[in-house]
Amino acid sequence: MRAVVQYGTGGPEVLKVEERPEPQRNAGEVLIRTEAIAVPFYETQLRSGLIPAGPPAIFGHEAAGVVVEADDASLRGRRVVTMSYTGGAYAEVVAASQYTLVPDDLTPEVAVAAAVSAAVALGLMTAAKVVENETVLVEAASGAIGSYLVRLAERAGARVVTTAGKGRADIDHRDPDWRQNVPDGIDVVFESIGGPRAAELTAKLAPHGRILAYGMLSGEFPVFPVAGLIARGLTLIGFGGPDAYGKRVAAGRAEALGLVADGTLTPVIDRTYPLADVAAAHARVESREGTGKVVLVP
Ligand SMILES: NC(=O)c1ccc[n+]([C@@H]2O[C@H](COP(=O)([O-])OP(=O)(O)OC[C@H]3O[C@@H](n4cnc5c(N)ncnc54)[C@H](OP(=O)(O)O)[C@@H]3O)[C@@H](O)[C@H]2O)c1
Repeated sequence: MRAVVQYGTGGPEVLKVEERPEPQRNAGEVLIRTEAIAVPFYETQLRSGLIPAGPPAIFGHEAAGVVVEADDASLRGRRVVTMSYTGGAYAEVVAASQYTLVPDDLTPEVAVAAAVSAAVALGLMTAAKVVENETVLVEAASGAIGSYLVRLAERAGARVVTTAGKGRADIDHRDPDWRQNVPDGIDVVFESIGGPRAAELTAKLAPHGRILAYGMLSGEFPVFPVAGLIARGLTLIGFGGPDAYGKRVAAGRAEALGLVADGTLTPVIDRTYPLADVAAAHARVESREGTGKVVLVP
């Protein structure tokens, strides 16, 4: 089968398409012939070395496809999505120990664009306990998780303020003076950009407000002044790692796909690329020119 292997860290060129043996399925696992593979933002940081990567191995984490082998014969031919914490998804065939059935009317591209990102948004909303009439700030709202957070927070009855690149949100987060445009009295911030700028948000939060820290789009973890958190009675909630990403997100995938199937959430696909053009797909994500998910089609 064809698969994408990472050789060292660096630009998109460290990802090479090669022939590899198909994976062997262990008992309890399913073998999936992939139809669509997501290229989430964090994978560009894994590839570049910003997030430490292991030795050369098949790259990628999120795939949708059709089950070709399973212990339960009734699963054969069913479309599923899977997420592997340890890689292996940029390939024509994937062995998966956990998977979620895709509703019949969803394409593999749509399923893979939503399954993990929308499940992360659902997990964040549960952790944040957003209630009606609260004011919620969603950073990087033009991104996959950000866009789902906006919709879910609106559905919860919150007032939503968004940041993203110019013209894509209420506040242009590329403007050095962006903070001046953030209103006071924010109850919940979904913080995904990180770095020292995160600290500037504490003054904008209502007393007893909550900060959900879940990303580092800027390349740095967020820095918060503890004195500011104490003085304003703020709550900092972290969301990530194997517990959140591996367990709570896996548990939320079926609900996420259901919300897409019933029209509550609308995934946006930016572009699709053949597996052979994986480097172009990574360059596209890093360019920040598109809106929506970049998807590889094997
Ligand atoms: N904690 C978890 O469990 C978990 C799980 C998955 C992902 N994540 C994290 O969640 C974050 C969002 O992921 P995603 O998949 O939704 O990303 P995405 O769809 O690629 O989102 C792109 C968004 O990020 C913004 N952005 C890109 N680079 C930026 C930078 N240097 N500074 C500020 N904004 C930047 C873009 O803003 P413009 O409009 O300006 O281009 C756009 O709004 C990532 O940090 C990711 O690692 C966390």
